[in-house]
Amino acid sequence: MSATDNLFPIFDRVVGRAEKEAKFGQRARVVWLYGLSGSGKSTLATALERRFFSEGRVTQLLDGDNVRTGLNQGLGFSEADRTENIRRVAEVAKLFVHAGAITLCSFITPTRQQRANARSIIGADDFIEVYVKASFEACAARDPKGLYAKAKAGGVKQFTGKDSGFEEPAAEDGSFILDTEAETPEQSLDRLYRFVVSRIQFP
Ligand SMILES: Nc1ncnc2c1ncn2[C@@H]1O[C@H](COP(=O)(O)OP(=O)(O)OP(=O)(O)O)[C@@H](O)[C@H]1O
Ligand SMILES: [Mg+2]
Repeated sequence: MSATDNLFPIFDRVVGRAEKEAKFGQRARVVWLYGLSGSGKSTLATALERRFFSEGRVTQLLDGDNVRTGLNQGLGFSEADRTENIRRVAEVAKLFVHAGAITLCSFITPTRQQRANARSIIGADDFIEVYVKASFEACAARDPKGLYAKAKAGGVKQFTGKDSGFEEPAAEDGSFILDTEAETPEQSLDRLYRFVVSRIQFP
């Protein structure tokens, strides 16, 4: 256990992360899915969790929509509030990692700085960054929540990709990329599943 793993002053008495991981037969990691609204984050996160759950793995999903009504209620979509939204989620995800869970986070996370911040809170070794890639036009055509139509009519403030920016990853960010315009949901899930499994299995 490194010094940064010591969340508790009574660390010699708490059941440690390594013990939990050994019991669950998995390495705890955070899978951080980011991309535009409608790119496929929630679709893939829920399907991946369902698949892991059916295999008997211990998982937790944190999704933009459920977190904003609870933990982060009161936060809006200004740059500062989005940064705080991500910071809190990253801290919670870190706690789940200490509980031994494979933790799936699905958040737009529009800026490289916010993603770097999440990575630094969680720790690079435990952080799997996944870019769920689809263009603004493709997401607008899908519009699963009707948000693009609403934004076009002026009914959504600071809509990502329209009024507020989205930064693509740079090569050095090391994002695993799922091109959801070129792949079916089943293909994306399969690629995601295989990539994540390779990172959570004990050697
Ligand atoms: N390869 C793919 N992977 C995932 N979803 C896909 C793919 N191809 C098409 N889709 C469709 O794209 C839509 C994605 O919607 P979803 O709610 O998952 O987006 P989201 O990224 O969670 O958006 P938001 O940020 O608004 O929550 C769904 O209707 C899904 O069926
Ligand atoms: Mg979603």
